[in-house]
Amino acid sequence: MYAAFRSIGAYVPEKILSNDDLAKLVDTTDEWITKRTGIKERHIAAENETTSDMGVKAAALAIERSGLDKSEIDLVVCATISPDYLCMPSTATIITDKLGLENIMAFDISAACTGFIYALNVAKAFVESGIKKNVLIVGAERLSKITDYTDRTTCILFGDGAGAAVISATEDKSEAIIDVHTGSDGSYAELLMTPNGGSGSIHDHLTAESAGAFMQMKGNETFKVAVRTLTNDVKEILETNKISSDAIKHFVPHQANYRIIKAVGDALELKEEQVVLTVAKFGNTSGASIPMAINDIYESGRLQSGDMMLLDAFGGGLTWGSALVPFSPKK
Ligand code: ACO
Repeated sequence: MYAAFRSIGAYVPEKILSNDDLAKLVDTTDEWITKRTGIKERHIAAENETTSDMGVKAAALAIERSGLDKSEIDLVVCATISPDYLCMPSTATIITDKLGLENIMAFDISAACTGFIYALNVAKAFVESGIKKNVLIVGAERLSKITDYTDRTTCILFGDGAGAAVISATEDKSEAIIDVHTGSDGSYAELLMTPNGGSGSIHDHLTAESAGAFMQMKGNETFKVAVRTLTNDVKEILETNKISSDAIKHFVPHQANYRIIKAVGDALELKEEQVVLTVAKFGNTSGASIPMAINDIYESGRLQSGDMMLLDAFGGGLTWGSALVPFSPKK
């Protein structure tokens, strides 16, 4: 049995936070943010909109586009670092309930910006082993809830949104996800973390004070490790599978920073039209960024059946991953 990437969906909240809006909150400028990151604006969830609310909207679209009845979904995996609730229940179980799915396995994955590729790897393994047939993978983030809007080094980067995909069993090898590579190195954990709110927190109990579990990042060091790791990782997955970069129709990287994407794209000698860029309009939406970018090319008509996608991501953990995925909607 093989695993096919059947469909994609996404949801973007209405409210926009522009670089000029941020310049009113912290000491920054549109020019600095644009030059250093490529980001022009990001979307922010409505006051009562949760990560699961956004995930459900993306998931409903992905299920509809898969041609399946929702009762055929037998596993839901949600990649998020901004779950509805810190410890439990998982956001995946809340999404499952809101979709009206019953009695199925559902769990979250915590791999920051690499979360969607980790979820894809899990879905592929469950499907190829014959344990599940139709897996819904969701990347959903309300990062605005864990962003410190007094810290100019992080608040300019992050936005909210969700994306989802359906991965289904197929006997047709030409439809199959070719390969997924995933890795981690916990010795770099402190480069990117939300230090409060967990068992490693300096606070004895979860209080109003410790609940301020904001993201902190050593951006410049992270940048260097990201470029090095991603370049090696995408080269390795292409070499292992004997696929040349010319065969890639869409390079869909995690949308953290235009300069990182450009460096990896250049290392692979990719042409501009092969590289999918949404960082300017969505910013960094962590686990949601890759499915939101895939949805962007789907809705604009650029993603066609059989197109080969190369996905790659890097994030807190540190974690990284890449995947060679043909787009295989149901025939
Ligand atoms: N506006 C103006 N100046 C700023 C801002 C800002 N928003 N932020 C920082 N600066 C200043 C710094 O204080 C510093 O000033 P100094 O030279 O006087 O000390 C200067 O700009 C340069 O700062 P750097 O941190 O070196 O800037 P850099 O070019 O590295 O860009 C950035 C920062 C955008 C964060 C970049 O390092 C980056 O994108 N890092 C990687 C992010 C990433 O990929 N993370 C992983 C995924 S995220 C996840 O997993 C949740």
